Amino acid sequence: MMFPAAEKRFIKTNFITIIVLFLVVIAGGVVRSTGSGMGCPDWPKCFNRIVPPTDISQLPQGYEQHYIEGRAKKNERFAKIVEFFGDKEMAYKLRTDKSILQHEEFNVAKTWTEYINRLVGVISGFCLLFTAIYSFTYLKSKGSIVVWSVINLFVVVIQAWLGSIVVSTNLMPWIITVHMLLALVIVCISIYTYFKAVTLRDKTVLVSNRSLGVLKVLAIVSILLMLTQVIVGTGVREEVDLLTDSAVARTDFITTIGQQFEVHRWLAYCSLILVIVLFFLVRTSFNSGSRQFKFALIALILVGIQMLSGIILARYAIPAFAQTTHLVIGTLLFGAQFYLLLLLNKQRH
Ligand code: HEM
Repeated sequence: MMFPAAEKRFIKTNFITIIVLFLVVIAGGVVRSTGSGMGCPDWPKCFNRIVPPTDISQLPQGYEQHYIEGRAKKNERFAKIVEFFGDKEMAYKLRTDKSILQHEEFNVAKTWTEYINRLVGVISGFCLLFTAIYSFTYLKSKGSIVVWSVINLFVVVIQAWLGSIVVSTNLMPWIITVHMLLALVIVCISIYTYFKAVTLRDKTVLVSNRSLGVLKVLAIVSILLMLTQVIVGTGVREEVDLLTDSAVARTDFITTIGQQFEVHRWLAYCSLILVIVLFFLVRTSFNSGSRQFKFALIALILVGIQMLSGIILARYAIPAFAQTTHLVIGTLLFGAQFYLLLLLNKQRH
């Protein structure tokens, strides 16, 4: 397929962006499971440096108070925003809850884990910037690619700001959830612009003259279910985080969480069944060389790994490696399903 050079450049950059975005998710997952979220008490710099310290002796005396004051100021501004949106109770909590301003002892490993996460985040920001710049080649031929690429740039700026609020609020669980869901939005927009750019010229990846009504409905139901499952999953993670700071033993977390976890497990089996059915339906409609088949297969494999890592989380007291795996595979699975849904679109002549 012949693409003009400028379009090739966009498609390549967009593709690299998607890969880098998944790297950010991996880095974020590692930060989460190693408890490194507060590795840098400030933002965007880390201990007010471009390259953070490797030893506590490099920090000036009384540095703790300085960063706590910075976070308090930031939280006050954030409380105003929350208040503006009508949540007075949350604004009050942000202003008065002592645990939000707790100081965390310096720890080299945690600081550098969080620092690497931020570096990858910055790289993804530049990737999205270049994707948006290069998208202007579609200004006349496919305006939606420009619009979505530019929107994505705005979303990632909001995402970076949310990252700073995650730190200033000492990892408040619901903010982490919004931060994660917004990451999914960014990933999906990137997949969408990539898909649009490729199919502008290469129609062969699309469905030709076949009626795929049932399949498409099923793919939509499946991705909506997956979205629900992700949201319930983040709810389970919020509970896990709250329990981590409590006296409850880690082995008792799952039973203590109770209903939320039961819903998550139940929905997991529903998702699994749907992904399996979807795979077999795709297999009967497409040959094994098609992208549709490949992505249905990828979704099937990923849902298997997701179930396995979930069961390990539940059985073995939520081990850190399974937390990272569960978060990363969940995001990949969602991305694969979203791309599959796009691939079920018909060719327009
Ligand atoms: C389709 C299948 C599944 C999907 C898409 C899914 C998705 C998710 C997501 C997105 C999270 C939040 C991760 C985070 O915010 O860090 C989560 C958490 C969790 N899930 Fe699942 N999940 C699935 C299946 C399961 C199964 C089968 C189990 C166990 C039987 C399970 C157990 C858990 C647990 C224990 C957590 C909390 C983990 C933590 O605190 O890091 N999940 N899930």
